[in-house]
Amino acid sequence: MKRIPVEELKPGMIFDKPVYVNNDVLLNSYQPLKKSDYERLIEWKIDAVYTEGNLLQKEKFEDELRDIISDISDLANTYDTSDIYFFAEDDTLATSAIEKHQEFISIVKDCFQKVKENKDFNSSELRNAANNLVSLVNKNRRLSFKLIFGTPKLEDYLYYTAVNTAILAIMTAQTMGYSRLHLINIALGGFLHDIGMTKISPDILYKKEQLTQTELNIMKKHPFYGYQILRRINAFPEDVNLIVLQHHERADGSGYPYGFVSSQISDYAKIVGICDTYVAMCHERSYRKAKTPPLIMKTLLKEEIGKMDPNVLKMFTYTVGVYPIGSFVELTDNSIGEVMLQNINVITKPTVKLYTQGNKKIDPPTIINLAKEEREGLSIKRVLASEETKEFLRKIRGK
Ligand SMILES: [Fe+2]
Repeated sequence: MKRIPVEELKPGMIFDKPVYVNNDVLLNSYQPLKKSDYERLIEWKIDAVYTEGNLLQKEKFEDELRDIISDISDLANTYDTSDIYFFAEDDTLATSAIEKHQEFISIVKDCFQKVKENKDFNSSELRNAANNLVSLVNKNRRLSFKLIFGTPKLEDYLYYTAVNTAILAIMTAQTMGYSRLHLINIALGGFLHDIGMTKISPDILYKKEQLTQTELNIMKKHPFYGYQILRRINAFPEDVNLIVLQHHERADGSGYPYGFVSSQISDYAKIVGICDTYVAMCHERSYRKAKTPPLIMKTLLKEEIGKMDPNVLKMFTYTVGVYPIGSFVELTDNSIGEVMLQNINVITKPTVKLYTQGNKKIDPPTIINLAKEEREGLSIKRVLASEETKEFLRKIRGK
């Protein structure tokens, strides 16, 4: 293990392997060094930390992310988010996950409604829901992910996106190596991040046209209102309250309500902030059409590189990928398969489970990692739309 003197450390530094103090983990891989942890090292007069990893550079991350933008080809824009939200009729696991998803939405809706009526909501029910959602994502990551691409009813939009943001935030935090307790708090933050919207007039909240500057300024107060609500209820750790307050802050200071910079924003809030942005882009609003997943990723990266914490952005990008897990894709050699896993350094080349090679069925299906595939030029040609996928699966299963 390498020895790193504490005087060489700075808050915000990120390593690609865990960093240890004595025998305890100070930092998980890809987790920035918090200012408070850094100050504790100084206070305790620790002279060095140890790691087998290397320091990662912000600029290097941003360059890698820029490369991804140019790698996302326009060919990928032939399918829609709704093409991912499909489940085979006989898929009992999916049916139960969809039911649970609905239950989470109802629980969040109930909380928001209680707050609207100035009543207290049942915080332990919400905590249980966060715990159960972490279990659902742990048990079936692929299925949970597909759930976020459904279409919410307009009146349920807030609660639907709250649950979906929580799903994505749990997955991103898992990628970053957070433990279960952290995942539950992050899920709670996902559920509650827009609770301050209950204080915004429905005329503004559900306005069909683009908001005026005055209306936008009113909207921008929702993180602050949300924080006030949670402080009054006093049922959650401050870490959760801070997600609500800071989910629209950006690392470069361009966010709101305070214009905080990276070191002032909690890591939880950074994760929920980026997941919230992605989820919002998934759903059609009256003034904004839903987009295809590769296009959403491209737009998100174009808008957020330089604003978002590059480490969190990279971990998020790796979690979601350009072709989300569960998408059915056709490769350049005409074989068809399902995206199973993302690859951290080449996110346009995931690991795919192949069901056919050309027109021939492969039984059992084979798994190939496109990032490591030696056949020259083998890559994703297009993504199948949901009807096409259903038809393909029927054919493969001989039904
Ligand atoms: Fe928000």
